[in-house]
Amino acid sequence: MLLRPTRIVFLLVAAYGLYLLHEFLFSSSTESPTGPRGPHFHIPPSRLSIQYPFKKNGIGKDEAKAEAVKKVMERTWRLYKEKAWGADEIRPVSGERKNTRNGWGASIVDSMTTAAVMGLTDVFADQYDWVVNQVDFSHAEGLVDPFETTIRYVGALVSAVDLLEAKVIKAPSKSYRKDILHQAQILADKLGPAFDTPTGMMWPRVNFEENKGVDSDGGRKESTSVHLARAGSHWLEYSTLSHLTGNPIYLKNSTKAWDWLVYNRKEETWPGIIESPKSIWTGASMGNTRTLGAPDDSHYEYLIKAHLLWPNKYSTKHHAKRWVQAMESAHKHLASKSAKTSPSNIFLLSFSRHRYENYMGHLACFAGGNLLLGAKYLSRPDLFEFGEGIIAGCRYAYDATDSQIGPETWGWEPDEPKEGTADFQKPVTAPQKDFFKAKGIWPTNVNYPLRPEVVESYFYGWRITGEQKYRDWAWDAFNAIVKASEAEWGYSEVSDVTRLRIDKTDNLSNSCESFWSAETLMYLYLIFAEPELCSLDEWVFNTEAHPLRRRL
Ligand SMILES: *[C@@H]1O[C@H](CO)[C@@H](O)[C@H](O)[C@H]1NC(C)=O
Ligand SMILES: *[C@@H]1O[C@H](CO)[C@@H](O)[C@H](O)[C@H]1NC(C)=O
Repeated sequence: MLLRPTRIVFLLVAAYGLYLLHEFLFSSSTESPTGPRGPHFHIPPSRLSIQYPFKKNGIGKDEAKAEAVKKVMERTWRLYKEKAWGADEIRPVSGERKNTRNGWGASIVDSMTTAAVMGLTDVFADQYDWVVNQVDFSHAEGLVDPFETTIRYVGALVSAVDLLEAKVIKAPSKSYRKDILHQAQILADKLGPAFDTPTGMMWPRVNFEENKGVDSDGGRKESTSVHLARAGSHWLEYSTLSHLTGNPIYLKNSTKAWDWLVYNRKEETWPGIIESPKSIWTGASMGNTRTLGAPDDSHYEYLIKAHLLWPNKYSTKHHAKRWVQAMESAHKHLASKSAKTSPSNIFLLSFSRHRYENYMGHLACFAGGNLLLGAKYLSRPDLFEFGEGIIAGCRYAYDATDSQIGPETWGWEPDEPKEGTADFQKPVTAPQKDFFKAKGIWPTNVNYPLRPEVVESYFYGWRITGEQKYRDWAWDAFNAIVKASEAEWGYSEVSDVTRLRIDKTDNLSNSCESFWSAETLMYLYLIFAEPELCSLDEWVFNTEAHPLRRRL
C-alpha cells in the first residue's frame, strides 16, 4: 500500500503522541531524574530464572566443604555462647565481652538466619529464645544507628520470619510469626524519630531515651548530611516489614526517605551516580564524592534488589532503571584496568574532591556480584562482563598477599588516561614499592576485619554462572581466612594480611563483628550447599546477607 506524505506525517505524529502517553502513564514518579533520558531496557517477566540450571546439569551440594564451613560456624557460636552470651560481640583473642550495637546481642540476632540456613536447630532455638523472651529493644545502650540497626537487627528479624514460613528451619513455637514481628515492630517504632526531618531522610542516630533523631555526637546541626549507604539501605527491610505486619507506615517512611536518591533531582554529573553526601535538611548534595564503594555502596546495591524483591510493584521499575543508569556510568567513568596486572582484572576508581582516586576497598567488591545479578536479569552482557572483571580484580588482590586474603584497600596504576591522571597516587613506603614491583598493586591498608564482600561476589558468580572456579576461589578464601584469623575464642580481625602470623595471637586485633557469622560464613556455606537452598530465583539478600522472599 502506498502512503501519501500527509498520511505518513499523521502516522508519525500519532505514534509520537502514543509514545508520550506511554511515557506519561508508565514513568512511575511525579518527577523524573535529571540527565539524559533513562537508558532503554527491557524488564523481563518476573519469573525469569536467574540461577544457572544446576539440577539439569547434575550439580548439587559439595558435602565436605559445606560441612567444613558449618563446623566453623558451630565453633564460633559455642565459644561466643560460653564466654559472651548476650553481648554484641566476643573479643576472640581474650574472650572478653564487647558491646558495639546497643547491647541487644548483635551476634545472636544477626546470625539467626545463618543458623536457619545451615539447619542448626539448637543454635536457632537459643537465638529465638533471646529474641522473643530476653532482649528489650525499647531500651538502648548509647545512641542508636538506624542504618546499622536496620540492616542487622530489623533485617534479621523479618528474614527469620520469611525463612520460617518457607520451612527452611523448623519453628521453635507456633506463635513465631507474631512473636518475632512484635519485637521487630518495637524496634522499628523506636527508630521512627529518625525520619523526623524536612526531607524524611534519616538522622544519623536516634536517642531512644528522648525519642529524638540526632547527629552522631548526640546534638542537632543545621549542616547534617549523610552518605548514600546510610540514606538508602532500608527499603528492602521496611517494605518487607510492612508486608508482614500489614502496617504501611514502614514502607511509607522508607519510600519517602529513599526517593530523595531514587528521584534525585540535583547534581548528577554522571547519570545515576549521586554526588555524596546529602543534606538531610534539603536533599542537596553537600560534597562531590562519586563511588560505588564505601560510604555509598548499598544504595546502588539496593536499586536492583528493590526491583527483584517486588518485580510486580510498579514503582520498582524505576529502581531498576536507575540501577542501569548508575552501572552504565560506573562502567564508563570508574572501571579501570592496569597493564601491570592481568587484563581480565577490573578495579574501581572513586572520584572525590575533584579528582580520581586509584584506590579500591574490599567493600567495593560487592559490586562484582551485584552486577552479575542485575545484568543476568536484565540481559546486559556488557554489565555482566564488567561484574566478572571486578570479581577477578578482587580475587587478584586476595591471591597477591602472603596470607591469601585481600587488603582492606589497595592501589594500582591505571591504564586509562583520565582528566587529572597526573594526580594518580603511587606507592609510598618501601614495602608498598616492593609489593607493587612484584604484583602490580600495592596495599594501602593491610587490615582484614573478616569482611564478606569478596566471598559474597563469588556466591553470585557461582549461583549465576555455575562455573567451578567460583567454588574453588571460595574454598581458597575460606581456608586462608580460617588459617589467618583462628583464635582461642573464635575468629579475629587480622591486622596485616601481607604476612603470615608467627604464633597463635600474633597479628590478631581481638575483634569480630557480627557480620562474620551473619554474612561471611553464610555466603561461604551457600556456595557449597544445595544450589536450590535460598535460590536467587526466590530470595533477595539484604546488605547483611539476610534472605528475603521475593514477592512474585
Ligand atoms: C514515620 O515518619 C514520621 C515522620 O514523618 C515519624 O514521626 C514517625 O515516627 C515514623 N514512624 C515510623 C514507624 O517509622
Ligand atoms: C601485625 O603485624 C604488623 C606488621 O608486621 C605489626 O606492625 C603489628 O603490630 C602486628 N599486630 C598484631 C596485633 O600482632
